[in-house]
Amino acid sequence: MNWETLADYDALSDRAAEIFLSAIRRNPRIVLGLPTGRTPVRMYERVVAACSREYHCFRDVVTFNIDEYVGIESTHPGSYCTFMNQHLFAHVDMEKSNAHLPNGMAPDAAAECVRYEGEIAAAGGLDLTFLGLGSNGHIGFNEPGTPFDSHTRVVALTESTRAANAPLFPDGNVPTHAITMGIRTILESKSIVLLASGDKKRPAIERLRSGEISENFPASALWRHRDVTVLTA
Ligand code: GLP
Repeated sequence: MNWETLADYDALSDRAAEIFLSAIRRNPRIVLGLPTGRTPVRMYERVVAACSREYHCFRDVVTFNIDEYVGIESTHPGSYCTFMNQHLFAHVDMEKSNAHLPNGMAPDAAAECVRYEGEIAAAGGLDLTFLGLGSNGHIGFNEPGTPFDSHTRVVALTESTRAANAPLFPDGNVPTHAITMGIRTILESKSIVLLASGDKKRPAIERLRSGEISENFPASALWRHRDVTVLTA
């Protein structure tokens, strides 16, 4: 695991954006796994800003988001689909059909998980996946206790995760379930970059750094992968 400690959140976002942009320059057909949450917001801002200064072609870039809420319309202000449109997709020349998120409104959510996993495989698998880190060590919505061999599936959200995400649902209807890539799905990505910033994440970062590998701490599965970069600030 390659650790980079950056001076602050800005520096972390610059570094993450640099990795992102150089990857799409190297491989314009790259398949990316993408996160939502507060942490990657400035990375996306930097990517979008760089694209307005110097053209970066997203036409053949394929993206798969890590997770999405169940029972929330994609157009809902709190959906991860809305997040991605606001922070990235609307600002670059992505082909709409190349931007994938699990459909949280699918009538059969379990079948949707199988379909999503199949789409990732049909795209040739993930080349580079960016991840955020939950303060309890979750990655995507894989909460403590998730088997490391899990694939994309429907999960119940813990109360702490629901509380952390509640600001996106000011009407109080905070989703109870989500579809998330599994830990195995994430580990199948050729490269992984984990972003973690701020005092709230400090205990989780230190636990990850300790090297202890346990299903009670989902991010520790990343120690089983040979190409992981952790950016902290
Ligand atoms: C959420 C998301 C994760 C995200 C994490 C950290 O629950 N499902 O994919 O990485 O929590 O979010 P933040 O960056 O806002 O701290």
